[in-house]
Amino acid sequence: MIDEAFVARLNAALPHDTLSKPGPGYLEEPRGRYVGRGGVLARPRSTDQVATILRLCNEARVPVVPYGGGTGLVGGQIAPDGPTPVILSLERMAAIRAIAPQENVLIAEAGAVLADVQAAAEGAGRLFPLSLGSEGSARIGGLLATNAGGVNVLRYGNARDLCLGLEVVLADGRIWHGLKRLRKDNTGYDLRNLIIGSEGTLGVITAASLRLYPQTAGQGTALMVVPDPQAALDLLALAQDRIGEGISAFELISRQGLEFQIEKMPELRQPFATPPAWMVLIDLGLPLGLDPGTALETLFETASDAGLVSDGLIARSEAQRSHFWHLREALPEANRLIGAIVSHDLSVPVGKVPEFIARAGPALARIGRYRINCFGHLGDGNLHYNVFPMLGRTRADHEAERDAIKTCIHDLVHALDGSVSAEHGIGRLKVADLERYGDPVKLGVMRAIKSALDPRGILNPGAVLRSQG
Ligand code: LAC
Ligand code: ZN
Repeated sequence: MIDEAFVARLNAALPHDTLSKPGPGYLEEPRGRYVGRGGVLARPRSTDQVATILRLCNEARVPVVPYGGGTGLVGGQIAPDGPTPVILSLERMAAIRAIAPQENVLIAEAGAVLADVQAAAEGAGRLFPLSLGSEGSARIGGLLATNAGGVNVLRYGNARDLCLGLEVVLADGRIWHGLKRLRKDNTGYDLRNLIIGSEGTLGVITAASLRLYPQTAGQGTALMVVPDPQAALDLLALAQDRIGEGISAFELISRQGLEFQIEKMPELRQPFATPPAWMVLIDLGLPLGLDPGTALETLFETASDAGLVSDGLIARSEAQRSHFWHLREALPEANRLIGAIVSHDLSVPVGKVPEFIARAGPALARIGRYRINCFGHLGDGNLHYNVFPMLGRTRADHEAERDAIKTCIHDLVHALDGSVSAEHGIGRLKVADLERYGDPVKLGVMRAIKSALDPRGILNPGAVLRSQG
């Protein structure tokens, strides 16, 4: 328990301004589903200080909630119940420790904001390709702890694929110095990939060595209107045949999302006079000598001949590119302004996306009448399938249906051999879903790992796995 004696011990072992009372920002999360409790906010400046904090918390059995940018969508950074925790924010450990452009490696501390890491890579003539809506606030430690996805997974993989090594403080305060920058390292169990995606329940990431890529010389972006999700998939296959690796993003957007923008963000310029039922945003990054505009035009013509697209726009300037991207990135904010009853972050095998969409609508219609905004990362089979009240009603009107809606969608995902959390993680929101849909052997192994690495259960208790006792 956090009591005066414990706080005095922590204070005595740390620089005087390390501890404070957490302001409201640390106790809220983006969708307002959880309100956190936090007795003490700790903002260490070094890995040794993180180690001291964890050692003392472990001795006193005080829970610790690691905190990055606070942008997580499943409540992983918020402790709404249980004993009051120490909130351990990595925000003061934001240094870029090193960049080795020739090795395509950048070493950053856990508190470095993603946009700053992207900028540092760019400054060294390289690309750090992790990219998502919250990149202006999300921090590297949290992005790795949740194995974040985003818009460039199709080409560059998830956060996991962009990490070569980690420095991690374990529950008892021991430091694992795994900050290697090797492309090949077959020396036993892969601790790095165990920590990545563990959402702060197995250790606290303090630094990471990250994989950089060459910059792409020519970027191009297009919006293409497709008749339905199957055509969008066929267009993806066609684009991959022709452009291969050059496709950086392939995002699906539905009419409902654009209508939400028209309703709540009238200042946002819509590219088509009537919002199309379905469209895709295609982003290319090509090497020197290849023109993305020409590649997109040829793709559009071929797709048009095949009946896969009916309309389209190719960005002719950097301003137009960022307008197209802004439309895409504004979808979650428009959703927030409408107020979803339930948001799902799901994946199915890429080829089953059309079947999922075709079956989900009618299945939900058996529960009630809703507006559905289905969008996401088509190239990854990852949909954000968000369910909203009809115009004039609120999400509070549908509170009683929330579980039925969620179960309906997740049962369908499960039947199609998909995942109930594609890129947002389990956090606290999906613990019961993991128990229901997860493989029981895997869950048993996860519990065994948790008790081996954190026998007192101090690390982010209640996230990913239900707290014991
Ligand atoms: C996105 C977030 C919701 O793709 O994952 O916009
Ligand atoms: Zn997403």
